[in-house]
Amino acid sequence: MAPRNIIIDTDPGQDDAVAILLALASPEKVHVLGITAVAGNVPLDLTQKNARIICELAQKTDVPVFAGAKRPLERTLVTAEHVHGKTGLDGPTLPAPEMPLQDQHAVDFIIETLRTEPAGTVTLCPLGPLTNIAAAFNKAPDIIERVQEVVLMGGAYFEVGNITPTAEFNIYVDPEAAEIVLKSGANITMMPLDVTHKALVTKERNDRFRALGTPVGIAVAEMTDFFERFDREKYGSDGAPLHDPTVIAYLINPKLFTGRYVNVEVETKSDLTLGMTVADWWRVSDRDPNAMFIGDLDADGFFDLLTERLGRL
Ligand code: RIB
Ligand code: CA
Repeated sequence: MAPRNIIIDTDPGQDDAVAILLALASPEKVHVLGITAVAGNVPLDLTQKNARIICELAQKTDVPVFAGAKRPLERTLVTAEHVHGKTGLDGPTLPAPEMPLQDQHAVDFIIETLRTEPAGTVTLCPLGPLTNIAAAFNKAPDIIERVQEVVLMGGAYFEVGNITPTAEFNIYVDPEAAEIVLKSGANITMMPLDVTHKALVTKERNDRFRALGTPVGIAVAEMTDFFERFDREKYGSDGAPLHDPTVIAYLINPKLFTGRYVNVEVETKSDLTLGMTVADWWRVSDRDPNAMFIGDLDADGFFDLLTERLGRL
């Protein structure tokens, strides 16, 4: 079976970095047409730089990297240096990138790719705020029906929020963009905190990354050593939740995951619950289902896959 054509839209971010590495290590499953950076964990000048740093770490400098939105559609940018550090990739010491940033704007790359590739053959993988995706859908509504699937990391229901009491960071940063994507009619699969908080990098799992003994394995171990502080302090977690790699793992082996096709909507008005994703998990409303909302994974299977693939780089 031919690999899936994907565009990774991302705000690296240590967990974004691991997702990008997993994708670049799995060419028989996913073909990365391009990486589009968005402001999120850290400002755009850093997320586009970090995306290129990770491509160079993977020695895959032929993957084009594009810069997109500097800020949400309507709101001021909220960043997460308290989680990811000032650079967004704190932990390992990685060299500044030499590969070029593409001149084309990320939104135009998304539009052009969806218009030129055969309909239904490109999957969008947003790993940060949905600003670039929503901007592309607004600018070129014709591309929406051409999208094979949007597999995104974002939202929460039973797990509630990580940036506010009710909202997950990616959705909270740009709730208007999330609403546009969720109401677009595109084929959507969501990886919310409900599943990503079950993908914890325990010490044993991180030791397996380090034991790879490669620059990639060691860098990933150092990233998660840094990245886990926030969740350990806040939740008492037994390690860092690897949010974004669940998106790529789903494309490689969907059998690792379970969920329900339900209605998911987002709060864009209330200050109290701004960015909250309301998943009708028990189907008590008459709102039409619009997303596959993933609630669980085979964590050991996920880490076995991730470790094996990182070992390829
Ligand atoms: O809430 C977790 C999400 O926000 C992840 O994608 C992380 O990288 C940040 O973007
Ligand atoms: Ca991210």
